[in-house]
Parts: sequence; C-alpha cells; structure tokens
Amino acid sequence: MKILVIGSGGREHAIVRRLAADSPAPQLHAAPGNPGIARHATCHPVALDDLDGQVSLALELAADLVVIGPEAPLVAGSADRLRDAGLTVFGPSAAAARLEGSKSWAKEIMVAAGVPTSRSVTVSERSELAAGLDRVNPLGDVPFVVKADGLAAGKGVVVSPDRGIATAHGESVLAAGGTVVLEEYLDGPEVSLFCLSDGTRVVPLAPAQDFKRALDGDEGPNTGGMGAYSPLPWAPEGLADEVIATVAQPTIDELAARGIPFVGVLYCGLALTSRGVRVIEFNARFGDPETQVVLERLTSPLGPLLLAAAQGDVAAAGEITWSEDASVAIVLAAAGYPAVPRLGDVISGIEAAEEAGAHVIHAGTVQPTGSDLTCSGGRVLSVVGTGSTLDAARQRALDGIALIQLEGAHFRRDIALRAARGEITL
Ligand code: AMP
Ligand code: GLY
Repeated sequence: MKILVIGSGGREHAIVRRLAADSPAPQLHAAPGNPGIARHATCHPVALDDLDGQVSLALELAADLVVIGPEAPLVAGSADRLRDAGLTVFGPSAAAARLEGSKSWAKEIMVAAGVPTSRSVTVSERSELAAGLDRVNPLGDVPFVVKADGLAAGKGVVVSPDRGIATAHGESVLAAGGTVVLEEYLDGPEVSLFCLSDGTRVVPLAPAQDFKRALDGDEGPNTGGMGAYSPLPWAPEGLADEVIATVAQPTIDELAARGIPFVGVLYCGLALTSRGVRVIEFNARFGDPETQVVLERLTSPLGPLLLAAAQGDVAAAGEITWSEDASVAIVLAAAGYPAVPRLGDVISGIEAAEEAGAHVIHAGTVQPTGSDLTCSGGRVLSVVGTGSTLDAARQRALDGIALIQLEGAHFRRDIALRAARGEITL
C-alpha cells in the first residue's frame, strides 16, 4: 500500500512513524514532511496551502490512500480536491471540517444533535459583549470563557476570572473582524478522544489527556498543547463508549442527515464535569501532541484502519487493540512560545535522548542538506517515553528531554504527574 501523508508537524511524524511499523510496511510519502518524517517517508516539497500540488503529487505517486493531518488544508478543501481527482482520502471535506473551523457552527450542530456542551452565545458586535458575558456567567463567580470563532491554532481562547481580560480578548477578536463565542465555564478534568468515522459509523481510539497551558501547574497562556499521556487511570470505565453514544455518533448522524458525511477523525475535546461529560470543542483531525501517545499504544495496524474508514467501512479493518503500557509525551517549545517563538537556533542531543530510551518526534524543525538541525516553529519536538506505569513513562520522557539542547527552550515538568500520583478525581 502506498500512503501519502500531508503535514509537517509532530502529529504527522507520529502517524508516519506508526504507519512504518505496520506489517507489511506501506510505502510512505509525505508533503511537505519534516526531518523526523524523512526517517520513514520520502518527503516532497509541496506546501500545506498548495492544494493543486497535493493533488498532482498524489496522482503522480498513484497513492492508495492520502491522510491529511492538519486542520488548515482540511478547512481549505484539500480532501474535496483529492476526492474529486478520484483518490481515497482519510480526512473530512471542507464542509465537515467546519466543525473545527467555526466554533459557532459546531455549537449549532451540537444543539441540533442533542450533544451535551456548555451554554454559549455568539457575538459579532462590541455592544453585545457585556450582555453575552452576563448570560453565560450570570453570577460572575467562575472564569469567563471567550473564543475566537475561527481557526487560531489553539491560541484564540481566553479563560480568565478577570472580566476585563475576557472583555479585552473579545474586543480584540471583534476589532480584527472576527466573531466571538462566549461560553459557560466547564470544570473537571479534560479528555481528548479521537473517534474515527467513515461518514456513518464511528469507533473510538484510546482516550488521552493534553496539557494546554504553557507552564507547570496549568499556569500561563493557552498553547497548542505542551504534553499528553495515555491511558487515563482515573477515567471511568466505559467512557469511550459513552462518548460515542452521546457525542460522536449523534454528531456524525446530524452531519450525515445534512448531506455532510464526516470521514476522518472527529476529535472530541471533553470536560468530565460534576454534571457529566460535556464537549469543550471538536476538531476535525488528530490532536497534537495526543497522537504521539495514542498511536504509541496502538498494537493493531494503522494503515488498514485509516484505509477502511476512507473507503466507507471503518469496521472492515477488524478489532483495534492497545498495549497496556503507558505513554507520555513532553513538548519542547522554543523560547518565547506561545507569543513570538525564537526561530533558527541549533538543536542537538536527539540521539542521546533516544539512546536513553525515549523517542523524539519532530514538529518545528528544519535541516537543509549539509546543515545543522534548527528550530523552525514554536513547538519544536516532543519527547515520548513509554513504560509499564505512567510514572516510568514520564521519567523516560523527562530523562530524554533533559539531554536535548536548544537555547532558551522550555518544557513542562508536570506532564502526567497528578495522574501518576493518583491525584485526579472526578
Ligand atoms: P479550545 O480551543 O476550545 O479547546 O479551548 C482551549 C482550552 O481552553 C481547552 O482545552 C480548555 O482547557 C479551555 N476551555 C475552552 N473552553 C472551555 C470552557 N467552556 N470551560 C472551561 N475551559 C475551557
Ligand atoms: N492538542 C490539542 C489539539 O491538537 O488541538
């Protein structure tokens, strides 16, 4: 099987790495890829926004399957273009990817499908902000949640008890011509659950937890994700089945009824609140860095699973099986991330980290022929540790990341710590 993976981040490196472990191994290509992906796949210099280039490349390669990793090409219609050219694609159409591209539309779908989520108000005028905040947080006794409606790479959301900060964020989004979604605050631990759909049916992968804030102790600004782990020892048994029944299947059904089949990953970002499971957000793709830990634990083949979903029968690939081992990913972020990351510095120590028993996933790296590996993005690497316990996996990842040098880089030391200590309760 010949597979083309579109993307250049950590998620795509993790996907390609796992595909390369399938038996028989598929022939792997990536566009544009990155230096880590290049270890497993032939990389082609086709940019993420070059939809024509993606179609030509997939046709030229005669790819049996195209897997689209990031949200930007999905929202821009890459999957539609590839399907129109007769290719088999894992990734939703632009119409279906709107679940991620528009938070207000996602809310509309959830309400129509009866999916449990926070109360929300969509605001497009400055004069409506104050009343909207009162509606979603009438007592003002919990944090305000203010989101840019469109794609923002995980950085369009402000959660703050300070009404002034919440208002200022809303105003800045509106001033830039955007729409704002105000939400009721959801408490309780967060879970990321990737649900694979063929447009009709939907199956869950293993739940993971992501760490969105930049600093230890969940301090600092929101990021795209600073680390992740799986499994979740504290999660209720049957969580994945419950989410399929109450969230994923009704959403897939609602979209199908509107003539918008969703083929790909419906990423359910959930809060396990005292009143039950609530959706925080949908994404239309695998999460990053959760993919690094979820696929690390997948023991059944990945390629046939994605192909089966893309061909319209996700069940055809057979049972999905998991390792009992735990996996922890810690993201190494560039100095200045998430605000203005400093780029261009040399990265070293990856081999030492891997010799110490971790593996290293590339996200924001480049290495022109004959030159050093340098930093080209805010989230630079993720270092993944595996072990029989969360604690062991955590330690492997921490030992590995300590051996990597990148000036000014930062990472969180508390990824999976509270779970490993049994401190997360529902
Ligand atoms: P989102 O991009 O919608 O996932 O939001 C980013 C992060 O902000 C989430 O992972 C949560 O940690 C937090 N967040 C978003 N919406 C809410 C909410 N309604 N209540 C509490 N926290 C939220
Ligand atoms: N880790 C969060 C995301 O991929 O959106």
